[in-house]
Amino acid sequence: MARFFTFLVGFFLLIFFISPALSAPLKKKFYKKTCPLAETIVRSTITNAMANDTGIPAALTRLHFHDCFVRGCDASILLDSTPKHKAEKESMRNKGIGGFEVIDAAKAKIEAYCPNTVSCADIIAFAARDSVHLTGGIYYDVLGGRRDGTISLIGDATKNLPDAFFNVTQLKENFAKKGLSLEELVTLSGVHSIGDCHCSSFSKRLYSFNATYPQDPSMVSTYASYLRAKCPRPVKTNSGVDPIVPFDPLTPTRLDNNYYKNLKSKKGLLFSDQVLWESSLTKKMVGSNIKHPSAWASKFASAMVHMGSIKVLTGSQGEIRKNCRVVNY
Ligand code: HEM
Ligand SMILES: *[C@@H]1O[C@H](CO)[C@@H](O)[C@H](O)[C@H]1NC(C)=O
Ligand SMILES: *[C@@H]1O[C@H](CO)[C@@H](O)[C@H](O)[C@H]1NC(C)=O
Ligand SMILES: *[C@@H]1O[C@H](CO)[C@@H](O)[C@H](O)[C@H]1NC(C)=O
Repeated sequence: MARFFTFLVGFFLLIFFISPALSAPLKKKFYKKTCPLAETIVRSTITNAMANDTGIPAALTRLHFHDCFVRGCDASILLDSTPKHKAEKESMRNKGIGGFEVIDAAKAKIEAYCPNTVSCADIIAFAARDSVHLTGGIYYDVLGGRRDGTISLIGDATKNLPDAFFNVTQLKENFAKKGLSLEELVTLSGVHSIGDCHCSSFSKRLYSFNATYPQDPSMVSTYASYLRAKCPRPVKTNSGVDPIVPFDPLTPTRLDNNYYKNLKSKKGLLFSDQVLWESSLTKKMVGSNIKHPSAWASKFASAMVHMGSIKVLTGSQGEIRKNCRVVNY
């Protein structure tokens, strides 16, 4: 018994000393020696892609969020389905997800320059940082050293990503599971000031909200009629018609605090956006982000860094994928 105990203590001591070698903290300028141009290549790839399609930065920022909330920031969102498993990207919660070609383009250039060195997970994080900077003028340093995971399952996305009809309690719980606070939830939601949304993500608010109100009363009627003109009434037989509308009709490619002003004037697009103004738990935070845009911007930068560290694989964990869409052999 005593011997077994000694063995146990020894075993845990061993684990304690070995584990720092297996995992390591993320670092600033992680590729300084191994691939000094990595971040420059990502940035120029995004600038080029954006010149052709102004929606690219929004797509890339969302990609980082959807990556980090499912199995941590491990590029699991990039993996394609295999004959055995449907991947995260097939989940309804990932409707409209994009930006994959831009990540592929950056990865191809980086592989040519320094093979087997830069993870797909870091490329997504760099890309999101540049997207935020290019659309909002908000800059933060991204730490590097994330490694790529090997698993991507459709069910994990459905379980871990928030739904557009969640109320504040449900949103709070969803973010808390990832170690993010209610304030970080409100701060990060401000990114719904850029990008587009499919009608199907909110059309229930326009036509069939509940038994008493066909239209969600927390949406101002002028905005609801504007949206009804763009979004046809959903029909039972799936006609496949699902147009997209901008989150912020005024400045759709500018990341700013206009999102919060829209909420205050009851022009939030998603139910999960508008609840942040309707609930007493978060209303004051929304008000403060309207009044103090630069304070919001710096909170946004910190919250992005925090989000980018969720359950990361580091050190010798995971792998450096050769092709971001498939795991290495
Ligand atoms: C708080 C809970 C959130 C919910 C329920 C939510 C839900 C959604 C939905 C339903 C869409 C539109 C999908 C479509 O119909 O095409 C969307 C788009 C988007 N989301 Fe969120 N989101 C949330 C938080 C976030 C966060 C934290 C970020 C990033 C930090 C983010 C970034 C984006 C971006 C940039 C778009 C536009 C994408 C594009 O134009 O390609 N969202 N979100
Ligand atoms: C430009 O964007 C369109 C879609 O917006 C895409 O189909 C096309 O492949 C892009 N071209 C380049 C060179 O990236
Ligand atoms: C939020 O939704 C959950 C699940 O539907 C419900 O139990 C809860 O009462 C709701 N909370 C609020 C504040 O509406
Ligand atoms: C419909 O929604 C309104 C506003 O959220 C709410 O006050 C009301 O109780 C709901 N009615 C039903 C029948 O669910």
